[in-house]
Amino acid sequence: MKLKELIENRYSVRAYLPQAVEKEKIDYILECARLAPSACNNQPWKFYIVRSETVISKIRESYGREWFKTAPMYIVVCKDVSISWKRSASDNKDFGDVDTAITAEHICLAAAEIGLGTCWVCNFNPDLLAQALDLSAKLEPIAIFPLGYIDTDKSIAAEKKRKPLSETGEWI
Ligand SMILES: Cc1cc2nc3c(=O)[nH]c(=O)nc-3n(C[C@H](O)[C@H](O)[C@H](O)COP(=O)(O)O)c2cc1C
Repeated sequence: MKLKELIENRYSVRAYLPQAVEKEKIDYILECARLAPSACNNQPWKFYIVRSETVISKIRESYGREWFKTAPMYIVVCKDVSISWKRSASDNKDFGDVDTAITAEHICLAAAEIGLGTCWVCNFNPDLLAQALDLSAKLEPIAIFPLGYIDTDKSIAAEKKRKPLSETGEWI
């Protein structure tokens, strides 16, 4: 699949089948995530691949939507603030959120490429999620990705509503 076709096909999936995801498929997605670029190549991320029922139920408490519970597993992407690159020569801006967003989008695109569904989830309770994963202070949870086979009876790709480039692009 061409990249543009993959980007067009990917959408936020909010209904999953209970079927488990094969280990090779999870490994493929994680390898795509691992290869993401990052500021200064610091790779300030940590991935939690959550398949344990105990942790799954705690993660579901951090984001209580019914659809979210249908996923058979989750990948949580965290930022390691102790190693993320800061623009210390000027404003000290921390680029860890940018880096983790890039690796996270690799997860989404890789999942879509191999026929799996996922959805960015950031509207979780960060304290509950940190407790669920027993995170140390240096790790900030950035996004949860439910991962699984798409329940195509309940999940339909919506029309891509995006602003036109005439509004968001400026040729100078
Ligand atoms: C940073 C980020 C955070 C998001 N958080 C949530 C969320 O908490 N819950 C949710 O249902 N969708 C969430 N989404 C999904 C967006 O609503 C979705 O990507 C957007 O509406 C475009 O739809 P599409 O992904 O189907 O193209 C998030 C997306 C991004 C990029």
